[in-house]
Order: sequence, then C-alpha cells, then structure tokens
Amino acid sequence: MAKHIVVIGAGVVGLSAAVALQEAGYDVTIVARDFPGPAETFDGLQHINFSSPWAGAHNRWVPPLPSGEGLREHRFALTTFARMRALASAATESTAHGITFMKGIEYVDTGAAVLADVYGLLTEARAQSAELAMPGFRLLGADDFPDARVAWGCEYDTWCVNPMVYCAFLLRRFVFRGGRVARRELRAVAEVFALAAADAVVGRGGGGVVDAVVNASGVGFGGPEDGVFPTRGQTCLVANACDATVTRQHADGSWTFCVPRGFEGGTIVGGTKEPDSWDPLPSLAVRERLLGSMAATYPRILEGAAGGDFTVIRDVVGRRPTRKAGLRLEGELLPGAVAGGGDGFVMHAYGLGGRGYELSWGVAEGVVTGVREYLEARASSTA
Ligand SMILES: Cc1cc2nc3c(=O)[nH]c(=O)nc-3n(C[C@H](O)[C@H](O)[C@H](O)COP(=O)(O)OP(=O)(O)OC[C@H]3O[C@@H](n4cnc5c(N)ncnc54)[C@H](O)[C@@H]3O)c2cc1C
Ligand SMILES: *[C@@H]1O[C@H](CO)[C@@H](O)[C@H](O)[C@H]1NC(C)=O
Ligand SMILES: *[C@@H]1O[C@H](CO)[C@@H](O)[C@H](O)[C@H]1NC(C)=O
Repeated sequence: MAKHIVVIGAGVVGLSAAVALQEAGYDVTIVARDFPGPAETFDGLQHINFSSPWAGAHNRWVPPLPSGEGLREHRFALTTFARMRALASAATESTAHGITFMKGIEYVDTGAAVLADVYGLLTEARAQSAELAMPGFRLLGADDFPDARVAWGCEYDTWCVNPMVYCAFLLRRFVFRGGRVARRELRAVAEVFALAAADAVVGRGGGGVVDAVVNASGVGFGGPEDGVFPTRGQTCLVANACDATVTRQHADGSWTFCVPRGFEGGTIVGGTKEPDSWDPLPSLAVRERLLGSMAATYPRILEGAAGGDFTVIRDVVGRRPTRKAGLRLEGELLPGAVAGGGDGFVMHAYGLGGRGYELSWGVAEGVVTGVREYLEARASSTA
C-alpha cells in the first residue's frame, strides 16, 4: 500500500510539495486553515497570515556569489523555471494555470549595496555559464536606463504568476489525481498524528496511519524561538497592463517593482520590505510613492492608459514568512508523536521569505527526497 503523507499548508509551498509527493507515488492529504480561492473575495485583514495570495508573483534571478553562497537557492529557482515552462506549455488553451512568460528587467541605482557584490560581480559570461544558466540574460547600457541614477541594469527571460489562479490550479490538479484535503486549524505540527487517528478525512478513513508529515505552514506556527518573523510588504494592485516585470533597487535600500499577473489579474506595483512589522493597514502615502516611482522607472506601464494614469483596484498588505537562519528544508523526529508512543517524522519546508513562488519546485523536490530517505531508512531498520 502507498505510504500516507500529510502536508500541513496549502500555500504555494505546501501545494507544490503535495503535487510532487503524489507524482512520486505517495497517498497525500493536505491539512490547512487557508486554501486558495478567488483573490477578489479575500479580506486582507482576515487572511493576512496566509502569504501566498498577496505575492506578485514574479521570478527574479538572484545571482549567487562566486563563493557559492546562494547557489542552492539559485538551483531551486532554475528547477522552478523549468517546471513553470513545462506546466505552461503542456497546458491546453482552456487550462487556467496562471503562468505568463515575459522579460524581466532589473535596474540598480548608484550607491545600492548590491552593486558591491552580487551585481558588480555578474558578467554576461557568468550569467550564461552552465552553472547559472540565466535564460535570455543581457546587460543593459546607459541608453536603456530610465534616468542617470541607474548605474547597472540587465534583462532576462522569466515568468510571472497570478497567485490565486496558479495555486487554485495546483489544488485542482492535486484533487483530480486523488489527493485529499481537510480544512483544519492546528495548534502544533504533532497534532496531525493524533488527529489522523480520530479523523476520517485526515486519517484517510482507515487506520489513521500517517507515515510522514510535511510542515509547510509559512508563518503559521512561527515564533521568535524558531526565528520566524513576517517581512511586511505593501503593494498596489492596478488594472493597467504591462509587458515586462521590472525591478529597481534604490540607493536607500527601497524597491520599486511591477508584476503583471495576467489572466485578468491586473499588475502589482510595489513595494515595501519591512522586517518584523505587523501593521496590517496600507498607507496612502506609500501607495502614492510606489506609483510615482513606477511611472518614472518604466513609463511604458502608462502607455495607452485611461487618462495616462494608474487605475487602482486595491492596496495590498502581506507578510512574507521569513526565518532568520533562512529556508528550513530538513527532517526532524518528534519523539512520541505517534499514537502508541512512536516517533513521528516531519519534513520542514518553511522560511522562504520573499521567494516562495520562485523556489517552490526546487523545495518540493527536496521534500520528496527527504521523505523518501526517511521511509527507506525506516523500512531497512525494521526489515
Ligand atoms: C507583498 C508580497 C510580495 C511577494 N512577491 C513574491 C514574488 O514576486 N515572488 C515570490 O516567489 N514570492 C513572493 N512573495 C513571497 C511569497 O508570497 C511567500 O514566500 C509564499 O507565499 C510562502 O508560501 P508558503 O506556502 O510557505 O506560506 P503560506 O502561503 O502562508 O501558506 C501557509 C499555509 O499553512 C497553513 N497554516 C498555517 N498555520 C496553520 C495552522 N495553525 N493550522 C493549519 N494550517 C495552518 C495556512 O492556512 C496556509 O495554508 C511575496 C510576498 C508578499 C507579502
Ligand atoms: C496572525 O498571526 C498573529 C501571530 O500569530 C496573530 O496574533 C494574529 O491574530 C493572526 N491574525 C489573524 C487575522 O489570524
Ligand atoms: C513548523 O513550522 C513553523 C513555522 O510555521 C515553525 O515555527 C515550527 O518550528 C515548525 N515545526 C514544528 C514541529 O512545529
């Protein structure tokens, strides 16, 4: 019989892991408090701890340092890029998958800290090398810059998703292929083992056996003891279309970016990155600053717009589930978690911060590997 894996979380990380586990032959149940739905109906205050609806979401290539720092994440981003391309090209015209391919443009202002290492050290040859393999990468020249404050720029091929269209697509695919879902709010990861014994849905109606749990709970159970904290982001959703996803880093550390969502989702104009800020309310002054800066950075976004201006749909505030030590992708045994006293295995997959979509399929592969290695070791120790 196929082993039964319970994934906690139905954000982009939990959903991707669930689909990947299913493809690897496991029986999978997703348990979560929040599930994807039409973003238009989501109350910003009520759903604020659910990150996935509030992302842009685009893929920005973040080149790893020559020292190798950041290389694992870059590989995860390459894996995700390949998977997004395969999903979009295998889809029939009627599949609303929410993925759009387009150019990504980066501008970095004089004085921005990233110029000292990441961007300053990036040549075309290195970007196009087999190791980095950044598709369509090209350095831009001063003629391509919007103003004289920009010191460095590049463009590349990338993808954007309309987050809730994409996540709902993953959820439909998962259920269509036999996956089960249960909407439950948990107080702790270990609760899943006890719940499964009592709950016909989570326990798959049988003996309530859970062979492994995946902790993709975002900022859900996060506490200071684990170094989990939110990085607040305020953006503005506008109806204006845009032909590229553009990101600019300013000398003072602030950001301007736009992410066309496609699928009649408008364009996200952002955005702030505020570690440890729990403020759920958007600021009108910030909205004005973001829109003004975007218009100056990429005037094409207003070409053909009614009245030559932005049409605001809503302000957005989200919490990026960040972890001080970075992404946690590893297994852990919870002593005595299984009814009867056995240890329960949990594969952690959280702390992706602002890169949950970008790294999703790489992390999902890591989850499958971790679960498989644990189950193989368990089988050989009891054989
Ligand atoms: C403004 C903004 C812009 C962003 N832009 C981008 C971008 O362009 N590209 C990109 O890659 N990323 C972007 N991100 C980051 C991205 O949104 C996150 O990294 C990603 O959504 C994290 O997904 P997740 O599945 O880990 O967490 P979440 O989406 O938060 O999902 C967590 C899941 O766990 C469940 N859960 C939590 N606690 C419990 C509990 N106690 N009981 C039961 N279930 C529970 C929740 O209900 C939910 O289903 C952005 C984020 C913000 C805020
Ligand atoms: C979001 O999480 C925080 C910290 O756990 C909690 O205090 C707050 O009540 C949650 N907000 C909502 C709307 O659930
Ligand atoms: C599960 O994920 C949360 C982040 O949401 C983390 O704080 C926690 O330590 C993880 N593990 C357990 C056993 O709860």
